[in-house]
Amino acid sequence: MNHLGSPFLRLIGLVFLFSCKPGPLVPTDERLYVPTTTLKAQADYRVGVAIQSGKLSDTAFADLITKEFSSLTAENQMKQGIMMPASGVFDFSEGDVIVDFAQANGLRVHGHALIWHSSLPIWFDTYSGTNAQFEQITKTYIQTTVTHFKGRVASWDVVNEAFDDDSRQLRNSIFRQKMGDDYVEKCFQWAHEADPDALLFYNDYGLEYDDKKRSAVVDMINDFKARNIPIHGFGFQMHINHNWPGKGTLSNAVNTLAATGLQIHFSEIDVRANPNNDLAELTLNRAKSQEDRYREIAALFKTIPVSQQFGMTFWGLTDNESWLIPFWGNIDWPLLFDANKGYKIAHRGMIEGM
Ligand code: G3I
Repeated sequence: MNHLGSPFLRLIGLVFLFSCKPGPLVPTDERLYVPTTTLKAQADYRVGVAIQSGKLSDTAFADLITKEFSSLTAENQMKQGIMMPASGVFDFSEGDVIVDFAQANGLRVHGHALIWHSSLPIWFDTYSGTNAQFEQITKTYIQTTVTHFKGRVASWDVVNEAFDDDSRQLRNSIFRQKMGDDYVEKCFQWAHEADPDALLFYNDYGLEYDDKKRSAVVDMINDFKARNIPIHGFGFQMHINHNWPGKGTLSNAVNTLAATGLQIHFSEIDVRANPNNDLAELTLNRAKSQEDRYREIAALFKTIPVSQQFGMTFWGLTDNESWLIPFWGNIDWPLLFDANKGYKIAHRGMIEGM
């Protein structure tokens, strides 16, 4: 029997040919879209993303980074817990992977984060030597790190999240306990000595909505400025929800901190689409609400005086890799690209807002 001539097989063949036709230009999934420009082409400032060094061996990932972004931050690999694994031992290898990639592709690097009470190597977190020894180790760590990356890392979050959520005073971290209330300024001075050209930032969350915490940070910045402590900018982390905090709250926060005259970095942007865990998948309505929020973020950044627009950084590339999912323990889609690196309409919101 001639199978090739069978009507059934001809029908199968037609179905096959039809299914191989190139897809329509506009994705049928309305939560995605086809971009006509890139973030870095559209923005008048640097647009960055936080990444894990291990992801750079994925060519599609690396290509999307260089296509869309002009700045990079290590999501984890340039934290003290990784760079100072044992007493007197430094390991910059993972940070170097990110910095080398950035240099090879013309991206700026924002270093994150020299001092953070939440990212300490265990041996240092449980240090039992004298306070003077603890301080000396901290100074050596900061200066060895900043010197290692000198000329390749443009800016640093020198101290991260130093203020307490309840008291709005300096948190009683191991740094404060062992080095005193002036530990923050010491860290800035040591970093500046190691690389006078690097821009030095204070980075925190909640500055967007917590008036008292923001006031405490502003007071610290103004005090540093008055005493010539080298500080050049601050990071609004910008971990927000699709419907919270309100637009007016965000804009008031940005205006207040812009009045310090420092550089402003929206440093860890993501927008939770599912903060109440009421969705099992991203609905079109929620995707649009998130798109609006991203448009707002971009428009808000433009209200900052141009000379103070340091840039913005998204805290991750694709939804599935966001820290928010393990942190909150529920599914979410907080970023600009879906798990398949598809362009979400959130990206369109950013482009339009820019
Ligand atoms: O790499 C190890 C892996 O080997 C191990 O099997 C696995 C098991 O837990 O852990 C992996 O390390 C995790 C690392 O992320 C890489 O995924 C750590 O446990 C986890 O604690 C770490 O979380 C990071 C967190 O900071 C703490 O450093 C998040 O990715 C990172 O997004 C988050 O970023 C912070 C900013 O630095 C400061 N602002 C808040 C922001 C969100 O928490």
